[in-house]
Amino acid sequence: MPRFIYHRNVFFFFNTSTCLLLIAPILMAPTSASMCTPLRTLNNSLSYRRRYMKHYFPINYTVRVHHEEIFKLSNISKMCLDEDGVDELVLQRLWFQVNQGVLKKIIQVLPKRHPSRSYTAELERRFKDAEGVFVLSHPAEVFYQELPETIQDIWDRLTEEPERMVDTSWGYAFPKSLLDNLCHTMYCLFHECFSNTEDQQDCDECAVSG
Ligand SMILES: *[C@@H]1O[C@H](CO)[C@@H](O)[C@H](O)[C@H]1NC(C)=O
Ligand SMILES: *[C@@H]1O[C@H](CO)[C@@H](O)[C@H](O)[C@H]1NC(C)=O
Ligand SMILES: *[C@@H]1O[C@H](CO)[C@@H](O)[C@H](O)[C@H]1NC(C)=O
Repeated sequence: MPRFIYHRNVFFFFNTSTCLLLIAPILMAPTSASMCTPLRTLNNSLSYRRRYMKHYFPINYTVRVHHEEIFKLSNISKMCLDEDGVDELVLQRLWFQVNQGVLKKIIQVLPKRHPSRSYTAELERRFKDAEGVFVLSHPAEVFYQELPETIQDIWDRLTEEPERMVDTSWGYAFPKSLLDNLCHTMYCLFHECFSNTEDQQDCDECAVSG
């Protein structure tokens, strides 16, 4: 029995590399239209974030996160300016990596029966749906490409074992701010799906090539 079926991501990679090569040119479009459905579903859930991430939390409650999990529009602009080889796809990959950690950390501080728990779990499900479509809509090779150096450094810090991290690597953020960041950077990095959104105005995304 082939071993890859036990691992969801590898299974995806196997599928994409064998089946999707033929139609790769279509799928290389900056953001495939198929991404918009799951992202808009996620966006709908995010519209309740004030209630679940602020009103249902103690005043000024903060969540401990990696510094790199504080990922705002200003980070995107900076990365685009400073780094060769940073394109929209690289930033989209980073967006998924950052925010899956963010959602996980919010869930971790919530007791099972807290009303924000099931809300965040639903966000996480919808986020994973979008990630699944994202992975499937690009050729597998894309995910093996080397990342620009500073992005790779961020990636390594994000995936560091918590017990091996030094204290200064942690930051504290309001849960609502974390989801605001998730939302605003989503409007920017997947602008094809959110062309009517006002938040786009602040979006200084990397020049979209091709
Ligand atoms: C995203 O959600 C906001 C409300 O939070 C809404 O105003 C906007 O129209 C939504 N965008 C799309 C494309 O669904
Ligand atoms: C919450 O933070 C704000 C701004 O830092 C501060 O003015 C306020 O006193 C804090 N509230 C509580 C209950 O700690
Ligand atoms: C975004 O910028 C903040 C402040 O400059 C920094 O602490 C954080 O690590 C940056 N996030 C990423 C993903 O680079």
